[in-house]
Amino acid sequence: MITNKRVSILTALAAATVLSVAAAPAIARGPAPDPAVKDFQRVVDAAYAKYKDLKDGKNADYIPILTETPSDLFGVVIVTKDGKVYSAGDVDYVFSIQSVSKPFTAALVMTQQSPAVLKEKIGVEPTGLPFNSKLALDIYKAHSVNPLVNAGAIAAVSLVQASSEADRWSKVSQNLSDFAGRPLTVLEKVYDSEYSTAWGNRGIANLLYNWGRLYSDPEEALRVYTRECSVGVSARDLGLMGATLANGGVNPVTKKQVMHARDVPELLAVMATAGFYDESGDWMYTAGLPAKTGVGGGIVAVVPGRFAIAAFSPRLNEAGNSVRSLNAIRDIAGELGVGVFGANPE
Ligand code: DON
Repeated sequence: MITNKRVSILTALAAATVLSVAAAPAIARGPAPDPAVKDFQRVVDAAYAKYKDLKDGKNADYIPILTETPSDLFGVVIVTKDGKVYSAGDVDYVFSIQSVSKPFTAALVMTQQSPAVLKEKIGVEPTGLPFNSKLALDIYKAHSVNPLVNAGAIAAVSLVQASSEADRWSKVSQNLSDFAGRPLTVLEKVYDSEYSTAWGNRGIANLLYNWGRLYSDPEEALRVYTRECSVGVSARDLGLMGATLANGGVNPVTKKQVMHARDVPELLAVMATAGFYDESGDWMYTAGLPAKTGVGGGIVAVVPGRFAIAAFSPRLNEAGNSVRSLNAIRDIAGELGVGVFGANPE
């Protein structure tokens, strides 16, 4: 006969069995250990050699001075979360960061306020449309759409908490420098060239203000946004900035916690869905890494928790993304098998 007491003992035993099964060590499914150092240098060298003679695309010309950057420059770099650098080509040439600045200012908004504020006051939907699309602003209820298109990036600058325009610029530029781990400066000729022709972005800023989706004076936001896009960086700097994201928001060289580790996944999610604009689907399908591009020719991609791959070359495709850089980074991601959705089977 089974007494009530025995039933409760049996129930307790069954529960203990379930618990012990649940607590059994799982089969390790974490990322594979990083490839040997020689593999990092080998894949960087191979990607550089494979694409250094590719002439497809052309320099951006809607910002007149960008036509003057020598089109054949090309640099490729991996920077690990502990600051090791593997490079080939022109990785120290300084060019304008352009849209690669955008995720880092979005990070500043997250740090000063929160990821929820970024989502609510700007948005996180990819548009499937070009980076300067006016149509996207009209068809999406959020208007500013996401912090990686021009509209959302201008809104992000306006959302930075600051007491004046000088203070706004100081916070934005200090944040970019903190990610890079060295003081970055504006390429003034790039700024003049872009600001004197920024009619489209001025239109966007004014439309957002009209819709209540810009949070400072529109011309102030436009000036600070244009300045952040004119900041000079090298491919090596972009690698360090990406490595800071790979390292939970801590710069691998200065050890400064630049953004909260807890906010990095949300930022990488926006980079994954919108970092390549209307090519973001193709990029994630073929490379599988969160990334951000700029019309200066720079791209940075992040292998979460491990390292960054960055490249620079001025010739762009139709979507405004550097042809050599995207090919080099995609090859390296494939060779190392580090796409976030899993490596391709052999
Ligand atoms: O606002 C602009 O049009 C430029 N300062 C930045 C655009 C950009 O880099 C787009 N990226 N591929």
